[in-house]
Amino acid sequence: MHVGVLASIIRKEEKLIFHALSDRGVTWEVIDDREVQFDLENGDRYRQFDVILERAVNHSRALYALRVFGMWGIPTVNTYHVAETCGNKILTTAALMEAGVPTPRTTIAFTPASALDAIEKMGYPVVLKPAVGSWGRLLSKINDRDAAEAVLEHKKILGTYHHSIFYIQEYVHKPQRDIRAFVVGDQTIAAIYRSSSHWITNTARGGKASYCPITPELNDICVQAAKAVGGGVVAIDVFEDPERGLLVNEVNYTMEFRNSIEPTGVDIPGKIVDFTLRVAEEGWPTANGWR
Ligand SMILES: Nc1ncnc2c1ncn2[C@@H]1O[C@H](COP(=O)(O)OP(=O)(O)O)[C@@H](O)[C@H]1O
Ligand SMILES: [Mg+2]
Repeated sequence: MHVGVLASIIRKEEKLIFHALSDRGVTWEVIDDREVQFDLENGDRYRQFDVILERAVNHSRALYALRVFGMWGIPTVNTYHVAETCGNKILTTAALMEAGVPTPRTTIAFTPASALDAIEKMGYPVVLKPAVGSWGRLLSKINDRDAAEAVLEHKKILGTYHHSIFYIQEYVHKPQRDIRAFVVGDQTIAAIYRSSSHWITNTARGGKASYCPITPELNDICVQAAKAVGGGVVAIDVFEDPERGLLVNEVNYTMEFRNSIEPTGVDIPGKIVDFTLRVAEEGWPTANGWR
C-alpha cells in the first residue's frame, strides 16, 4: 500500500497523519501542490498511489487536483464532488436543503441593490459571507441598514469577482458557542464546543475548544449532513438555535483538528487514515456504507 498526501505547508495535522500512516506500516509520500505539473494525458507518475489523501490548504488547488486524480482513476479522500460542494457555501446549503437537513435561512443575491433589499426583508441582524472562504474571514454581521449599505458599497468598489455573489444568512442567536463535529464515514467520531465572547467562534479566531458529548440527535444530523455533501471525512459546524434546536451551518472537507484531539480523547488522524486505507481497498462507500 502506497499513499500520497497532497499538501503544501505541513501543519500539525499533516504530521499526525504521517505518524498514523507509518504506524500502520504503509508507505507514504507528500505530493507538494506547489510543484505538481499535471500532464493530463499521462498520469503514470501518480498511478503508483493506491489512494491520495487531500490535505491542501488552497481550495482551488485541492479541487482541480482531485478532479485530475479522479480522471486517472486514482481513489481520493475526499472526492472531487465532496470538495466542490463543501468548498462553496452556496452549494453546501443547497445540498443540505435538498437532503432535508435543518440549516439557517439563507438568501442568495447577485447585485448590491438586490442584496440590500434581501437583507431588509430578512431583518437584522444578518450575516454576509463570501461563498468561498474559511477561518471566519470576511464574514460580516450586519446590525442595521447603515452597516448593510457600507459593507455592500465596499464590496462593490473594492471587492474581487468573489464578492459579487451575496450569501446572506439569518443571524442565529446561538449561545456563546457552536459545535464542531467530525464525521468519518457513517459515524460522528468526535465533537467539540467552540466557545468565544465574539460571535465568530472559529478556533483560528480564538474560540476555545472543549468536549461536546455526541448525543444521538447530534450524531444523526451530522451523519445526514455528511451524506448530503457526498460523505467521507468532513467537519460540520452546528448551531444550537434556542427555538429550532440543531441547525447545520456548513460542512468542511479538509478539516483542521489539532485542537480537537485533546478535549475529546479521540484519535482523529488515526480514524482519517483508517478510512483512507479502506477507500484504497474497497473504493468510496455508497450511501449505505461499504457493502
Ligand atoms: N448565521 C450565523 N449566525 C450566528 N453565527 C454565525 C453565523 N454564521 C457564522 N457564524 C459564526 O461565524 C463562524 C464562522 O462562520 P462559517 O460560516 O463557519 O464560516 P467559515 O467557513 O469561515 O468557518 C461560525 O462558526 C459561527 O461562530
Ligand atoms: Mg466554519
